[in-house]
Amino acid sequence: MLVYGNGEVLVAQAPAKLNLFLEVLGKRADGYHELETLMVSVGLYDTLVFKEGHSKTIAVRCLGAGERSDCGEGGIDSIPTGRDNLVVQAAHLLRDHTGVQRGAEITVWKRIPPAAGLAGGSSDAAATLVALTHLWNVPLSAAELHPLAVRLGSDVAFFLARTPAAVCRGRGEVIEPVPLPMTLQFVIVRPPTGLSTSHVYRACQPSSPARSCRPLIQSLTAGRLAEAGRLFHNALVAPAEELNKDVTLVRRIFSRQPVLGHSMSGSGTACFGLCTTRCQALALARQLAA
Ligand code: C5P
Repeated sequence: MLVYGNGEVLVAQAPAKLNLFLEVLGKRADGYHELETLMVSVGLYDTLVFKEGHSKTIAVRCLGAGERSDCGEGGIDSIPTGRDNLVVQAAHLLRDHTGVQRGAEITVWKRIPPAAGLAGGSSDAAATLVALTHLWNVPLSAAELHPLAVRLGSDVAFFLARTPAAVCRGRGEVIEPVPLPMTLQFVIVRPPTGLSTSHVYRACQPSSPARSCRPLIQSLTAGRLAEAGRLFHNALVAPAEELNKDVTLVRRIFSRQPVLGHSMSGSGTACFGLCTTRCQALALARQLAA
């Protein structure tokens, strides 16, 4: 996440994430699932613009950017701008927590497709927490913002940590940053339809025996990318495929490509392939888009 501006207008670039590994360890008493997941942030961003409002109102509008403004079921039109919107919730939570009496006008340029397992909404929420602490001049550290992030959603803490890669445990909020020595080149495909995270988790079974993401991290940190690609794993693939046949279709397409490895991100429906070079990734993206 990148936040910049002049104090009166702030701009935040909120990245998407991919889960290179996601294991479901068990179901918890609070209804959530205990996870071990390796998340990486990727160079696909929503852009948020924050201005002090004329009143104490918190006003949010979402605009689709380019072709992503029409991504079918679960598309931009389905993104709420009222109290269900995570940006609105983040702003109110921060205001209630700090007691500031300020408003904000927030414009969100959506590029990250929703209902895709790419956590666009969570990233936008984390960016809102960080940007509004600057705009409203309430100096809270990332550690102080962490409990607010956890209340907003399981993925928000990862973005708040502002690390390129991390192992996330608990329901996703316990963050262990992982240093990766190189830039990874991915092609991401989001089919026309999306999936609801809660529906996918409801249909999943905890894995037995559970796999660990350590071998994948060792391969990545040693730069053994072909080996790493074979270790990609997502325990939510089976329930996602049950609920949405587009996931099966996209996974089948990736299985025929010369990628080092491929998987689904989060609860889907977006899938990704790891390429050897940026040039290969761009060529494959063009081919798949066609
Ligand atoms: O935390 P978040 O609001 O993003 O989660 C959305 C839904 O996904 C939850 O209501 C829950 O049903 C499911 N979930 C889960 N276990 C997790 C994360 C999410 O069951 N670790």
